[in-house]
Amino acid sequence: MCGIVGAVAQRNIVPVLVDGLKRLEYRGYDSAGVAVLTNGSIERVRRVGRVAEMEKAAEEINLNGFLGIGHTRWATHGGVTEPNAHPHVSNGELAVVHNGIIENHEEKRQALKALGYEFTSQTDTEVIAHLVHHHLKSATSLFEAVRLAVKELSGAFAIGVISVKEPETLICARVGCPLLIGLGEGENFVASDVSAVLSATRRVMFLEEGDVAEITANQITIVDLDNHPVERKVHVSDVSLASLELGPYNHFMQKEIHEQPKALSDTIEQVLESGFAPSLFGDHAQNVFEQIDSVQILACGTSYYAGSVARYWVEAIAGVPCSVEIASEYRYRDVVANPKSLIVTISQSGETLDTMEALKYAKSLGHEETLSICNVQESAIPRASKLVFYTRAGAEIGVASTKAFTTQLIALFALAVTLAKFKGKLTAEKETEYLEALRHLPGSVQHALNLEPQIKSWAEKFSPKDHALFLGRGVHYPIALEGALKLKEISYIHAEAYPAGELKHGPLALVDEKMPVVVIAPNDALLEKVKSNMQEVRARGGELFVFADLDSHFSESEGVHVIRTPRHVGVLSPVLHAIPVQLLAYHAALQKGTDVDKPRNLAKSVTVE
Ligand code: AGP
Repeated sequence: MCGIVGAVAQRNIVPVLVDGLKRLEYRGYDSAGVAVLTNGSIERVRRVGRVAEMEKAAEEINLNGFLGIGHTRWATHGGVTEPNAHPHVSNGELAVVHNGIIENHEEKRQALKALGYEFTSQTDTEVIAHLVHHHLKSATSLFEAVRLAVKELSGAFAIGVISVKEPETLICARVGCPLLIGLGEGENFVASDVSAVLSATRRVMFLEEGDVAEITANQITIVDLDNHPVERKVHVSDVSLASLELGPYNHFMQKEIHEQPKALSDTIEQVLESGFAPSLFGDHAQNVFEQIDSVQILACGTSYYAGSVARYWVEAIAGVPCSVEIASEYRYRDVVANPKSLIVTISQSGETLDTMEALKYAKSLGHEETLSICNVQESAIPRASKLVFYTRAGAEIGVASTKAFTTQLIALFALAVTLAKFKGKLTAEKETEYLEALRHLPGSVQHALNLEPQIKSWAEKFSPKDHALFLGRGVHYPIALEGALKLKEISYIHAEAYPAGELKHGPLALVDEKMPVVVIAPNDALLEKVKSNMQEVRARGGELFVFADLDSHFSESEGVHVIRTPRHVGVLSPVLHAIPVQLLAYHAALQKGTDVDKPRNLAKSVTVE
């Protein structure tokens, strides 16, 4: 939830830290700070608010140095205040930045207080600073002191540490939260993700669980928690700097919505190349598919809704039983495990803690067959899974997930069809039909994007409202859920979604002339049922906003607004219908003047419980 960056060089690294923090800001944006070694002491600047505020303050004092660390925060322990902002300093001698949670912080805090340490913040991070400081009194080096401190801490975290005692050394450690080292020429970096170091280098090493690294301008040494040396591969990142820039757009969410035809065709390309062969999901997929008799999907938020669409596809197309569960619920439930079930985790970031923990729990119950659908190469969840499908959405910066969602749907559709083929349930005609549907989808999505001016005018009607209802049926019910999530997440309008048939069992009581009701009404087998549910709304004075296919034969009337999406695209219709609800949320948020890319209280990567 927080972003970490660090640098050691033979030049002023403050601009590198600030640039890195700006790129990491999507991970958390309550407050920001940097600590730099200057003339033998630690100089620190922290500000509540955005990185730009902190940058201004750093410029005012002409902060500079060759060694430093920086942080953007999403508050967990302690409120959003300057004393709680990172870096945290111990005795003026060392500084720490931290992403994640220290679970035994209270116990450590008491022990350190007994040793005479004074705490100035409510954070768990300050415990790390004092604990490293304590070990530094007897350890042979900062490297050693950090390793010993990390061994005493429990939780999931990544840290960066500098000390006045070693002015040319940056130490970092990874236990459960992502961290990588960027390799420059005579300078090196550490960061939560590759975006933060790209302007300096493309060569990166991903740290693994329990790695502790000592980084100087010219050398990198990595050990495990027991001090055994370990080697990590060097990767050359293919993420382009341009993909991290706004370009002609006003917001990343807007950019990412409009990138969907390309993101989809890039993701579809690998499916078309494979022809629904198991190898699409990895080398061992053939063997895995032989073992399994069902699918259990685990995910959070938007990724969970992608999984909810997949349940319909896997059962209808492959005839394989499929369940989907919110990861944070699954992980704390006494699950009756079926080890023959394929565990499918879905995560854009690949680092959502609840999803990761649900995967670990599933494994502890005897599940060996695991597949991760993820958008970030080398992230934690795919690394912990036997099979992987990487979506090709490109970097998603906006907190509200858009192109990651629709590309996840492609991966899941491919899974359903591949399973059907593997189990001998796919006819040649159906295979051709699905391949055609995939080929045509990016074009249809582009048509849906062209509806933006009409959707914008709907958003003007929505923005003064306090509540909205979203209705869908069957495979489009999760799209209604996703539409409601998007709207509340970025416009702060309270929205709920129901399967349209459920309306009369309670939520209809909410409907009056003040309640806008969005209906996902594609031209499928349930259309006539949906039309009846719409009558129920209209009869109570509710105003209907209907997304119907071109061939749905809906007409506008008083209190019934209709936008026609392209002709019904068959089985992939949920992907197409995700587009207008994204645009509706985006324009409603614009009307309300909220911070579209960085909505209040949220962050892109949720690496805490
Ligand atoms: C989506 O708009 C949300 N920001 C959120 O629900 C997100 O999908 C969820 O936190 C899961 O993230 P993940 O896909 O990175 O695991």
